[in-house]
Amino acid sequence: MTELIDQPQRVSRNLRAAVLSPVGGFSKFSKIEKINYIVETFFHGSKSSKELVKSFWAQKPEHQELLDAFSENTLTNFHFPYGVCPNVLMNNELYCVPMVIEESSVVAACSKASKFWLERGGFKASVVGSEKIGQVHLIWPGKSDELFELFEREKASIREELTPILSNMERRGGGLLDFELRDHTDQEAGYYQVWCRFETCDAMGANFINSVLEAIGRTFKERVSNQTQWSKPDQDLQVVMAILSNYTPDCRVKASVECSLEELEDVGLGMSAEEFVAKFERAVRISKIDVNRATTHNKGIFNGIDSVVLATGNDFRAVEACGHTYAARDGQYRGLTDVEVKNGRFKFTLEIPLSVGTVGGLTGLHPMANFSLDLLGRPSSRKLMQLMACIGLAQNFAALKSLVTYGIQKGHMKMHLMNILKHLEASEAEEEKVKEAFAEEVISFGAVRDYLGYLRQI
Ligand code: MEV
Repeated sequence: MTELIDQPQRVSRNLRAAVLSPVGGFSKFSKIEKINYIVETFFHGSKSSKELVKSFWAQKPEHQELLDAFSENTLTNFHFPYGVCPNVLMNNELYCVPMVIEESSVVAACSKASKFWLERGGFKASVVGSEKIGQVHLIWPGKSDELFELFEREKASIREELTPILSNMERRGGGLLDFELRDHTDQEAGYYQVWCRFETCDAMGANFINSVLEAIGRTFKERVSNQTQWSKPDQDLQVVMAILSNYTPDCRVKASVECSLEELEDVGLGMSAEEFVAKFERAVRISKIDVNRATTHNKGIFNGIDSVVLATGNDFRAVEACGHTYAARDGQYRGLTDVEVKNGRFKFTLEIPLSVGTVGGLTGLHPMANFSLDLLGRPSSRKLMQLMACIGLAQNFAALKSLVTYGIQKGHMKMHLMNILKHLEASEAEEEKVKEAFAEEVISFGAVRDYLGYLRQI
């Protein structure tokens, strides 16, 4: 039976493999040659596919050239909506925060939550630390004490050799804070690390950190190979790799909101403030004990954070990877937010590592990332960390508030309906009628289209 069901799939896969032959030198093709190849090979030469791809080119050739240069084998651009979350009051200053995200209701949820907290003192945020980490992973089959002794003896001179790479960052107030040799031979035979701590100021600092690490690896290896007097001088220090760690628990930020329980009364929750906070607290507790819920809970937080990370040209993969590792720091993956209800006050907090920059990398190169930073008043990386945490907190507050009251679908469906109506080019009068008709109905594209068709006939 399984054999019979699998058969057609296998045949079609084989056919595809037979038709598709490897392409050589693709990266050397001009852009138009690449598009032609793709359209000929995968779209039967379809003119409309080619037009579609070209229609998403940037209007200004210089913008397109810039975008093309960010990556390789580029054909066109893949657009995402660029929205803003107004009314973000953080540490008594008002911001309008840019958000790039394709998921409907995220910007709306953050905007609503920001407005809610604007009326209750806004967000408070502070940077806990801004230290970043890099590692040179080493294998040394010789004596451990000899390696440590040499490292300590040569440390100052290794640092001296880094001067050309460090000077610029040091002028800006950052640099290599310290580096030390660590013994990991209990985990892997001969395994050591040079563990390096960095301050990279307003830069995310990946290139700077990696350059320093590679130089440390090269220099230390050279120093080891000069030790002809050692017990086994023929042994080499192997530099396995030198790379920053995207886990930056000491580059961390804290954001919180706080109000009295009275301020949560009569805000359309459909329940008393006490009942609301009790359900809210329970929802947060569940995110701490159940890994399935924790993942979704944190996903919501990253809906907010990632959208600001993207809008400012930062690396959302690094931020995500780090945040999830942090969420599992005690061995179990847990929700990242905390709530406290004490003495009649509700306090909701997010503490999260965020390694982002406001200079260097894409932040200065991408015209829209630059626009975002202008919109935020050219923030320092510390301020940007704080803003991102506020948006993550706003998103989580909005999600939990919906979940423990009316459920998430109510808001989602409202947005979904608006998107469908926009797509079907409904007039304002039609919009009103459809909204009324679907107030208590399950919304689907087909049902709305049919109802609109019916309205247009009568
Ligand atoms: C949807 O993208 C995110 C939520 O599921 C987050 C949550 O459940 O907390 C709404």
